[in-house]
Amino acid sequence: MCGIVGYIGKNVESVVIDKLKKLEYRGYDSAGIAVNSPTGFAVFKAKGEIKNLEKIVKKTDTASVGIGHTRWATHGKPDEINAHPHVSADNRWTLVHNGIIENYSEIKEKLVGQGMTFYSQTDSETVVKLLQYYDKGDRFDTISKTISALKGSFALAILRAEDNKIYFAKNKSPLYIAIKDGEALLASDVICFKGFAEEYYVIEDGEYGSVDGNALIVKNEFGLVGKAPVELDYDFGDVENVYDHYMIKEIYDTKNALLNNYEYYSNGNYKKLADLDVSCFDKVVFVGCGTAFNACLVGAKFFKEKFDVDCFTEVASEFRYSRPKLNERSLVILVSQSGETADTLAAHELAKLNKAVTVAVVNVEYSTLAKAADVCLPIKAGVEIAVASTKAYSCQVLTLYMAASILEASSRREKPNFDQVKAFLDGLSFGDTELFKRVSETIRYQQKIFMIGRGADYCTANEASLKIKETCYLNSDTYFAGELKHGFLALIDEMTYVVVFATEKEVLAKTISNAEEAYSRGARLIVFTCFDDIDKSFENKCEFIIKVRDIGSGLQAIENIIPWQLIAYYTSVSKGINPDKPRNLAKSVTVE
Ligand code: G6P
Repeated sequence: MCGIVGYIGKNVESVVIDKLKKLEYRGYDSAGIAVNSPTGFAVFKAKGEIKNLEKIVKKTDTASVGIGHTRWATHGKPDEINAHPHVSADNRWTLVHNGIIENYSEIKEKLVGQGMTFYSQTDSETVVKLLQYYDKGDRFDTISKTISALKGSFALAILRAEDNKIYFAKNKSPLYIAIKDGEALLASDVICFKGFAEEYYVIEDGEYGSVDGNALIVKNEFGLVGKAPVELDYDFGDVENVYDHYMIKEIYDTKNALLNNYEYYSNGNYKKLADLDVSCFDKVVFVGCGTAFNACLVGAKFFKEKFDVDCFTEVASEFRYSRPKLNERSLVILVSQSGETADTLAAHELAKLNKAVTVAVVNVEYSTLAKAADVCLPIKAGVEIAVASTKAYSCQVLTLYMAASILEASSRREKPNFDQVKAFLDGLSFGDTELFKRVSETIRYQQKIFMIGRGADYCTANEASLKIKETCYLNSDTYFAGELKHGFLALIDEMTYVVVFATEKEVLAKTISNAEEAYSRGARLIVFTCFDDIDKSFENKCEFIIKVRDIGSGLQAIENIIPWQLIAYYTSVSKGINPDKPRNLAKSVTVE
C-alpha cells in the first residue's frame, strides 16, 4: 500500500514532493519521482522517508508533468531499485503503482521469454513493461490492453514521453483527480487536494484515461465515461502540529474529537441507523483489523448488553475464510479508521454478496467503505496521521456506544439520551504525566510485558498491548486474566511485567487474585483501577497503580486506554523511536 501522486503545472518537483508528504502515512520505506525533461524522464529515488528524496531531487523550471510514489514494500526489499517510478526499457513509459499485481510472475515470465530484462523485484515493473509491449502508438489502446492483462489491485499514474498528460487506471485501489486552471492533480487520497481545488473526480474500478491541465478523459470497457465532480467538503480539521509528534497531538486531540462525535450524534445524525431494527437480525458481526478490531471487541460487548442477539467479532483477514454464515438477517458492522483497509473491504464485499445489512464505522468519510456500506457512521475524529491509532480508537468505541444506544432507543420508539456521555466527556482529563513518564522509564527496555484483564478490560488490554508493540517495539501479549494458570504462568519470572486492567467491578476480586498469582511467581505489577477500596496489602505489591475515574458504563474503555496511550508515547520517544512512523508499518493497509 503506497501513496501515488501526479501533477501537471509549474514547480512540478516541489508540488509532487509536497503532496507525497501528505501521503507518507501509506508507506515510508522509499520514495521516488519522475518528471518530463528535454532529454526524456528525470527520475529520482531514495530509500527511507520522503525527506531523503527531497535532498537529491534536482528542481527544474522546465518540467511540466510529474508523478511520485511513497512505498511500503510488498515485492522486493525497500531500496532505490525497487522504489517507483519504474521506467520501460525504451524510456517511453514510466509509472507509479499502488496495489498488488497478483499475476506478475506469469507476466514477467512471458515478457522475459520475449527478450525483456527486469531490473527490480517488484510486481509493478511488469506493468510498465507491458505498456512497452502493447504500445503500437494509440495510448488508450495500450493502456486498455495492459490493464486487461492484470489481475489484482492497482491505482496507476503513468507518463508517456512526449505527452504533457498523466494517464491513469484503477482497480480496487483509490484514485482521485482534480483539475484547476491549467493544473491537474491526481492522488490516492483527497487530502492532497486541500488548498488546491474545491472539487474532484472519483475514478472507479475498471476505469482508465488521461488528464491534462484542462480536460479529463475517462474510459471503461464500454467506452467513454461521463464524470461529475464531487465537492471537497470534507473537514480535514487541524492537521498542523505544534507538538513534537503527531501521536501526542492526536492523543491530546481526543477530547475534542469525542465532543465532535457527541455533537454529531446528539444532533440527530443517525436517521438511517435508527431505521434498523436489531430484533430483525439473527446475529451481529463486528469486523476490523488492528486497533479497529480491538474497538470491535468493545462494541460487541455494548450490543450484547443491550440486545438479545448473538454477537460475534472477527478479524477481517480471517473473515472470508471462516465460512461465515450470512444472510439478510445478518448485521455486519465494519470498523475502519481509513475505510480503505483491503481485508475489511473484502469482508464487506462478502457480506453484501450474502445480502447482509452493513454498517461502516469510519473516520474517512469519503472512503471506499463509507460509500459502499448500507449505513455509514462517521467517528468524527478528524484526520489521524500517526500510524498508531489513538483518538480514532476512542472515537470508534464512542461511535459503537452511540450506535447501541440509538438502536436501543429506537426499538422503544424513544429518542436516545446522551447525557451520560456528555458528563463523561466533560470530566475527561489526561492524568498524571509525571507518573506516566516514570512508568515508561521502567518498562522501556523490558522484553516481557503481559497485559491481563477480564470482560471489557481484556479488550483494553489488547489495545494497550498493540500500542506498545507498534510504537515501542516491546514484546507484549494479552491474556484473559482467568487464563493465567492455563499455561501463561510458566512464562513468569522476575523480569516479567504484568499490566493488570482492573476496572470491572463484578470480577474485580478475581482479577486481583490473578494478579496475585503472577506476583507470587515473581512478576512485577502495574495496575489500572478505578476503585479506591482495593486491599492495601495488594496495593503494596504493585510497582505502579494508575487510578482512573469510575465511569460506570462502557465508556470506561475510553477512560482506561488514554493513560496507556500516553505511556506508550513516552516510552517510544525515550527509546529514540519515531512514534509516528514505526518501522515496517503503514497507517492504511490497502493490500491483503
Ligand atoms: C494498520 C495500522 C493500524 C490500524 C489497522 C486498521 O495495521 O497500522 O493502526 O489499526 O491498519 O486500519 P483501519 O484504517 O482499517 O482502521
